[in-house]
Amino acid sequence: MTINSTLEFPRDKALGRVFRVDTASVWAEAIDHERLTRIGVGSLIAFQGSNSSEYLVGMLDRVTRDLQDEAILEDVDLDGEVPVEARQRDLLRVVLLGTYRTVDGTKTNTFKRGADSYPLVESLCWVVDGTNLQKLMGLLSQQLDPEKQLLLGRFVADPSAKAVADGDRLFQRHAALLGSTGSGKSWAVALILERAKALAHPNLIVFDMHGEYTPLTEGDEPIARSFRIAGPGEDDSDENALYLPWWLLNQEEMQALLLDRSETNAPNQAARLTHHVRELKHERLVAEGQVQVASRFTVDSPVPFSLVELISRLEADDNEMVTGARPGSEKAGPFNGRLTRFVNRMSARVEDRRYGFMFAPPEDQVGYDWLHGLAKKLLGTKPGIKIIDFSEVPSDVLPIVVGVLARVLYEIHFWTVEEKRTPITLVCDEAHLYLPAGVAGAAELRALDSFERIAKEGRKYGISLLVVSQRPSDVSRTVLSQCNNFIALRLTNDQDQAVVRRLMPDSMEGIAAALPLLDVGEAILLGDAIVLPTRIRLDVPKVKPTSATRNFWTEWNETAVEDADLVAAVEAMRMQSRR
Ligand SMILES: Nc1ncnc2c1ncn2[C@@H]1O[C@H](COP(=O)(O)OP(=O)(O)OP(=O)(O)O)[C@@H](O)[C@H]1O
Ligand SMILES: [Mg+2]
Repeated sequence: MTINSTLEFPRDKALGRVFRVDTASVWAEAIDHERLTRIGVGSLIAFQGSNSSEYLVGMLDRVTRDLQDEAILEDVDLDGEVPVEARQRDLLRVVLLGTYRTVDGTKTNTFKRGADSYPLVESLCWVVDGTNLQKLMGLLSQQLDPEKQLLLGRFVADPSAKAVADGDRLFQRHAALLGSTGSGKSWAVALILERAKALAHPNLIVFDMHGEYTPLTEGDEPIARSFRIAGPGEDDSDENALYLPWWLLNQEEMQALLLDRSETNAPNQAARLTHHVRELKHERLVAEGQVQVASRFTVDSPVPFSLVELISRLEADDNEMVTGARPGSEKAGPFNGRLTRFVNRMSARVEDRRYGFMFAPPEDQVGYDWLHGLAKKLLGTKPGIKIIDFSEVPSDVLPIVVGVLARVLYEIHFWTVEEKRTPITLVCDEAHLYLPAGVAGAAELRALDSFERIAKEGRKYGISLLVVSQRPSDVSRTVLSQCNNFIALRLTNDQDQAVVRRLMPDSMEGIAAALPLLDVGEAILLGDAIVLPTRIRLDVPKVKPTSATRNFWTEWNETAVEDADLVAAVEAMRMQSRR
């Protein structure tokens, strides 16, 4: 394809004629009915613009048919009665997206986002397909530096034309991948990871809720490195198992997890917790010979300390007796009896095996250097793309786990010297599970805070989110509204469509109408990473996630359930581990 290949729109190939123009869309009446039956919602339509070198390009978002009564003036009978005839009209509605010019000042063949003018009523329109579509797509990809190109798939309207996104822009200011269950989100994630893998130092961390990306971490040349949050049944130190020891929690997180704010003594409890944690951290730093850190650290600094010691100091407060007013007499200390419930709740948490990854990690997870190791594993580019399997984390503690991890990663990244920072993207699969909309418990709120902070400030520090969800209406609005790019797959639920519609710029609202009509693996790309939002078919990833849609009917004819497998399942449930 040569650079100067001009799109051609001959009059005799016109699809229709404009009859109504409003701010959001243009309506045309079809003149080529046969052609209309061969194009679908999402096809690109070009209108003659304000002069002969200008065309406005938009996306077909609705086709309707109506009957219009038309007067047949030639047949007026003697009584003066005008006969009417019902005429069938095929109407198409198009959302304008961009402006193509054959000549633009000194340049030829340019395309820019946004419509500079509106088509005139009665002007012609054409389907952009075949050679024209290829030329247009060629033009769009020429405008994009090859280094930035992220190939996502092919255009539905013309499978020979490649759909390419600007990889920089897609990740720069957060993106969202939204679609109903089974619409192809996980496959799309796998595809993006596969493309990123081709780069020298891809830095992405996938929060994998169901362990469905495991195949990407296997084989001779795995796409990603696998980690998992240690399950409740675990006690060994497998090097892929991640623990999040209690000392990583900041005060707010600790309080959210351990404190009952409705209790009258809650302020005393919080104060003593902070006091002891600070002292214990300080003692540890001194013991480690970290003089400099000891003089600068805050109570929230992630410094290891002994949990047993913390509890025993809180117990000491709770039982403390001090000398009374009379010599030799004793009276209850200032916190005597005020921490009993707190200490009990804390001990119960610590013994709760579900929190094993936090309160009962193996010995070597409490060393001063342990956090250095975690940073190298998760933020370093040597391991490449990282997939963290959360599938064995009990659902009620999931938000806290994901939230703490995200915050710690964000903070380490934040404190990296700017020139030494390789940008990183956190891929949040099934985001509605831990980035919920609406009020949640104290622990969930803390988790949400970490992500909302990344959504708001991450751009400056080169850390971004790729939010993946089947229920956009259940995902934090703060997080979603910070996303600048959307990969919208089939979305059937009304509420979810409404959310996506609200996130779109006004001019594109009409596109939301196409969302329920998309096929599996089809998407509409919206945002600054794509010059022209259109319907595309995402490429199939080479290595597929294990998220297959099961063939119920077929399998009922093929696969029997073995008793032994059920016994194993019950035992796995008891141990909370498949291993
Ligand atoms: N690009 C594609 N081309 C063809 N088929 C696809 C494509 N993407 C997904 N599929 C099919 O759809 C099935 C479900 O896809 P996927 O697991 O990605 O859905 P999902 O949106 O992640 O669903 P969930 O929200 O339940 O996790 C796949 O097993 C595959 O058969
Ligand atoms: Mg999925």
